Amino acid sequence: MKTKIDLLIHNVSIASMTDNGLPYGQIQNASVAVKSGSICSITKSPFDEFEPEKVVDGQGQWLLPGFIDCHTHLVYAGNRAKEFEMRQQGKTYTEIAQQGGGIQSTVNATRRATEAELLEDSLKRARRLVEEGVTCIEIKSGYGLDLDTELRMLKVAAEVAEKLPVTVLPTYLGAHTVPVEYKNNPDAYVDYVCDTVIPKVAEQGLAVSVDVFCESIGFSPQQCEKVFIAAQEHDLNIKAHVEQLSDLKGAKLAAQYQAISVDHIEYLDEDDVSVLANSDTVAVLLPGAFYYLRETQLPPVNSLRQHNVPIAIATDLNPGSSPIASILTTMNMACVLFGLTPEESLRGVTVHAAKALHLENKGQIAVGLDADLCLWDIEHPCEFSYGINQIRPTRKWIAGNEA
Ligand code: NIG
Ligand code: FE
Repeated sequence: MKTKIDLLIHNVSIASMTDNGLPYGQIQNASVAVKSGSICSITKSPFDEFEPEKVVDGQGQWLLPGFIDCHTHLVYAGNRAKEFEMRQQGKTYTEIAQQGGGIQSTVNATRRATEAELLEDSLKRARRLVEEGVTCIEIKSGYGLDLDTELRMLKVAAEVAEKLPVTVLPTYLGAHTVPVEYKNNPDAYVDYVCDTVIPKVAEQGLAVSVDVFCESIGFSPQQCEKVFIAAQEHDLNIKAHVEQLSDLKGAKLAAQYQAISVDHIEYLDEDDVSVLANSDTVAVLLPGAFYYLRETQLPPVNSLRQHNVPIAIATDLNPGSSPIASILTTMNMACVLFGLTPEESLRGVTVHAAKALHLENKGQIAVGLDADLCLWDIEHPCEFSYGINQIRPTRKWIAGNEA
């Protein structure tokens, strides 16, 4: 008696991204069986024991887990091209923020936008990622800051997943910047985030994580700590923008609160890397923001490696510091700017990105995991980080359904 399955993809090389002792977790001349949205078997031999509903000949191409962009701010209105121009004329990101531009200027535009307008703009950006093989995207709020607009942003994030073949993990980023109406009383804004918005977001199930911007132009470690406590009280994961522009010891603090990731970390002190090593916190590097802000301080990559801290990478897609709707370009940047190897870069958008979102069922090709898969007509997986704008997946499946 043969076992019925939904899908059989055969004649592929697999970059499983598991720790099977081979680079990229390779499995040559393999077949993958899918049932009820999950991978149910992987073998090198033909599948005599199965009766598949659909059979796909991979023609010797490479099969990979769908990419995961674990840090984006892709729901927003307007753009900040004028600020890019100002920076090229000599103003810094911090100066622009201090003069009422920066995040606040996107807040102004986003507050004015309707849900339909926001969705239309957001879909354009999300589609770019999806076209490159991204099957899962984390999307932060943080350009509304008031209750209404933050909830609207989080709803739009969820709608992106209804319109496109992609899983969305929404994050509430109320502590992104102090909105103008609280300019003279930032602590009152933090109380509003903790006591009013987080409970609403949790009650309506609109986010799975809470994020903060721990920085002189964002929030102090003490203020961030309040947000972490409120997040924990509502069973939400903690993520944090830390050590992007200066070393406020935000990563250490976030790790103490079991943050699932600390993101940016160019200014993370080498001595603090051991704190991450002793936690379950993933280091998320964002080379797009480093590139756009012409940062020169490199994240402590060698130290992260030595301490076996999992490194994820992400686009940080946002209108200010990283208007890059391309995970593949980001992978190249992680190699060229931060010195990651192509394999580290690929782990950064698969297995480690999954960990940065607490997703145990994604990011690798292994039995029992979600069948989010992309087929690529490439010679070798190092090609993902090698070129810019040269390759796209030839076929893809989300939970076993072809997209
Ligand atoms: O990850 N650093 C804070 N947040 C974003 C930038 C947001 C913006 O400039 O609009 C970041 O770089
Ligand atoms: Fe960010």
